[in-house]
Amino acid sequence: ELGGSVTIVVLGASGDLAKKKTYPALFGLYRNGFLPEQTHIVGYARSSLDLNTFIERVTEHIKVTGDDAALLTRFVAKLSYISGSYSNDEGFQALNDHVSSWEQHQETCHRVFYMALPPSVFVEVARGLKRNVYNSRGSNRIIVEKPFGRDLDSSRELGKQLSQLFDELEIYRIDHYLGKEMVKNVMTVRFANIFFSQIWNRMNVDNIQITFKEPFGTEGRGGYFDDFGIIRDVMQNHLLQVLTLIAMEPPISTDSEAIRDEKVKVLRCIPPISLDDTLLGQYVGTEDGSKPGYLDDDSLSNKNSKTPTFASTVLWVQNERWEGVPFILKAGKALNAAKVEVRIQFRNVAGSIYRGAARNELVLKVQPDEAVYVKFNNKLPGLSYDTIQTDLDLSYRHRYTDLRIPDAYESLILDVLRNDHSNFVRHDELDASWKIFTPLLHQIDQHDPALEIHPYTYGSRGPQALDAFVARYGYDRSTSD
Ligand code: BG6
Repeated sequence: ELGGSVTIVVLGASGDLAKKKTYPALFGLYRNGFLPEQTHIVGYARSSLDLNTFIERVTEHIKVTGDDAALLTRFVAKLSYISGSYSNDEGFQALNDHVSSWEQHQETCHRVFYMALPPSVFVEVARGLKRNVYNSRGSNRIIVEKPFGRDLDSSRELGKQLSQLFDELEIYRIDHYLGKEMVKNVMTVRFANIFFSQIWNRMNVDNIQITFKEPFGTEGRGGYFDDFGIIRDVMQNHLLQVLTLIAMEPPISTDSEAIRDEKVKVLRCIPPISLDDTLLGQYVGTEDGSKPGYLDDDSLSNKNSKTPTFASTVLWVQNERWEGVPFILKAGKALNAAKVEVRIQFRNVAGSIYRGAARNELVLKVQPDEAVYVKFNNKLPGLSYDTIQTDLDLSYRHRYTDLRIPDAYESLILDVLRNDHSNFVRHDELDASWKIFTPLLHQIDQHDPALEIHPYTYGSRGPQALDAFVARYGYDRSTSD
């Protein structure tokens, strides 16, 4: 769709994110015909690597067989690598010369800068790019990854520095959860089905739970993680984004700014989280010693760390639609399963003649194995009038057998090429999300004595206090699977 040449510059190309996500996603797009043939992909980082070593590294996570092997060879021909400093202009000038070399004969040139970088070098790289690699013959788009600061003030500061360099519409703040198939499906489920849109409110919904479970700990990533904790790592961003899509009012259209306007509005209805509505935990090793505790991790320097690896927080959306309905967020590392899902529990039927009937529940399973299913009550077939709870089940694996579900990064990079901001976080949205979490995060950072960090065993369901905690908000475990 973009006329002229397209250059994608991956900053931090020798790092983990580039290798695990960015390059495999770019290949996925290429394989499916979504990268214009005249695309160049340039890696830039500090390590001096020869091209072959670099290519080996960034293709390490790309698995191909048969015809795809030939495609990979063609894809690799588009890759180049330049090493240079993040702090002085020379490297960026060399990068600019390199990019200009194939742009000379093009009328329009588009440059996409993918910042796969640690936050410490982020602003200086953005400055170096602006001074030396910013293109005046077409568009510039800059893709940035979290962390966007660590609280409201630092996020605002970062935002200020970035806005001096790039226009808001040139900036794409990635939250990769917004690229996940089931997360992209939330608006469709809500706004294209009358039987959901009509009951999506406090009159019918009892509570909503958004869960993120990982079965592994921070192994080897303790250095990064200890500075952030589970709330900054996945809750303030990924889970809150899901909540926003579940809770927002219908946008006036599918236009990206119309969607983002509604997201900001609903976030502004959520007051900061209170200590009372929070349960924190940190994992400990298993008794038999087969799995380590968080504090046993060699990459962790503070052996007395109180950083939570598990959190459950309850958010309240104070508007006409949701007043009084708890949104229970729950996220943890080193738990008993790998699972991300949204569970909407409806109220009991008023004055029901079927006393034993369970509540209706709608589940959106984000991963693994995308599914939408509704738990509802049915008459047990046969000569009885007993009620049985059963599922209306849309499992993607069974229903959409011929369709390939793209990786979140593939979907988001394609959005950038299409200039579609719908699935990216706007500056005011980011600000509103930090407002909700910052007071709590500061209380955690300052070790507020009211905040107990509950130990839980690696591989368990979380802290023992969890069941009683969620039950306080009306969550009924009996229907869960
Ligand atoms: C990242 C977090 O943003 O999301 C990681 O930093 C987490 O800690 C990851 O593991 C989860 O993403 P996904 O796509 O594997 O669910």
